[in-house]
Amino acid sequence: MYKLKCISCGKIYEPSPKIYVCPQCGSRLGTLEVIYDYEKINLKKSDFSPDGDISQFIKVLPINSYVTHLKVGGTPLYKFKNLLGIKEVQIKYDGTNPTASYKDRATAIALAKAYEYNYETIYCASTGNAASSLAGLAASTKLEAFIFVPASAPIAKIAQLYVYGAKVIQIDGTYDEAFDISMKIGEKLNWYSRNSAINPYLLEGKKTGALEVAVQTFYDPPDIVIVGVGDGTVISSLYKGFYDFYKLGLINKIPKIIGVQAENADAIVRTFEKGKPYKPIDIYAKTLADSISVGKPRDVIKACKYVEKSGGTFLRVSDEEIYSAILELAKNTGIFGEPAGAASYAGLKKAIKLGIVDKNEKACIFVTGNGLKDIKAVEKLIKPIKIEPKIEKVLEYINEVKS
Ligand SMILES: Cc1ncc(COP(=O)(O)O)c(C=O)c1O
Ligand SMILES: [Zn+2]
Repeated sequence: MYKLKCISCGKIYEPSPKIYVCPQCGSRLGTLEVIYDYEKINLKKSDFSPDGDISQFIKVLPINSYVTHLKVGGTPLYKFKNLLGIKEVQIKYDGTNPTASYKDRATAIALAKAYEYNYETIYCASTGNAASSLAGLAASTKLEAFIFVPASAPIAKIAQLYVYGAKVIQIDGTYDEAFDISMKIGEKLNWYSRNSAINPYLLEGKKTGALEVAVQTFYDPPDIVIVGVGDGTVISSLYKGFYDFYKLGLINKIPKIIGVQAENADAIVRTFEKGKPYKPIDIYAKTLADSISVGKPRDVIKACKYVEKSGGTFLRVSDEEIYSAILELAKNTGIFGEPAGAASYAGLKKAIKLGIVDKNEKACIFVTGNGLKDIKAVEKLIKPIKIEPKIEKVLEYINEVKS
């Protein structure tokens, strides 16, 4: 039902457990696209429900069966009129997934493939969310999970790993170093890889966020879609999801896709700005938004090509803008996103300011992770105030703080 195609040289490969990337182009340039024969896939709008989990899309996913009992996807799409002065802001909130981030969409597919290929062990390297996602979802199956994380990952994410019973390898280094080590070990020990970009099926799981937006907007998708970008897989997947539904005749347009990176973790913005032919520019990344703190993005080629095809672009925001976005988003909408999740809101504000988004347009931002995953990011707000346990003292304080 599907084949694999190299994003750089276009060579087509038959799917097999051993094929992760194009051997000719290598792991950075040779990431693979999953391509379907759309003529043979028969789907209609009534096949999907706005709150169904991602298994409802199985006919456009590269899996035979769905292996976790946890509900992945079917996350809410909230719609706000006139927020930030534009026609409609839609918020796709993925903090409600089983392990509280967008990454569960990819993990569900990776687990299905590991079963299909008869692996007993699955591994990944992650800035935190893919790790906690693999730990949690693997715990709902019989697969053993080994997780490589930078020791600096936020404590809530590391706690998730241990609670779910995964085997944790905390590397005293960056995410990029953890990634490279994990790849060597995974290959040596014949484990299945749930590493971003390297495994082409992860993007297919992630695209279900776009498919859900199409269904939840009754097949009238927004004009613009905005998301935080680290390795570049999530943003690529959003294009791919809309593209699949467009090719299947379920929607009439593909939204412009805008990627948001932190100022000091802007490897993909730099590559995109340099122009074609896209060549990865690696940097040393440092940002408060740990999930997008990636200096050597693995899906940079797809991200640049797809964003260009959509007519979109990439933007930088400062850590200060991300921090303010967390608070503004939470106060205005009741949605508490982790820094990488709220980066999309900061990006929308910037895009409006720069005239990239017009006031007559509908924009959808993806809030990809739950704010409770990274409390440290907002610890400045937590004030150590102690009030004497007396009614008049409490009333005095209420008078001081009420608006
Ligand atoms: C919450 C969150 N948002 C955004 C991203 C960015 O996704 P990608 O690395 O595929 O660009 C991640 C990746 O870890 C994430 O955890
Ligand atoms: Zn190739």
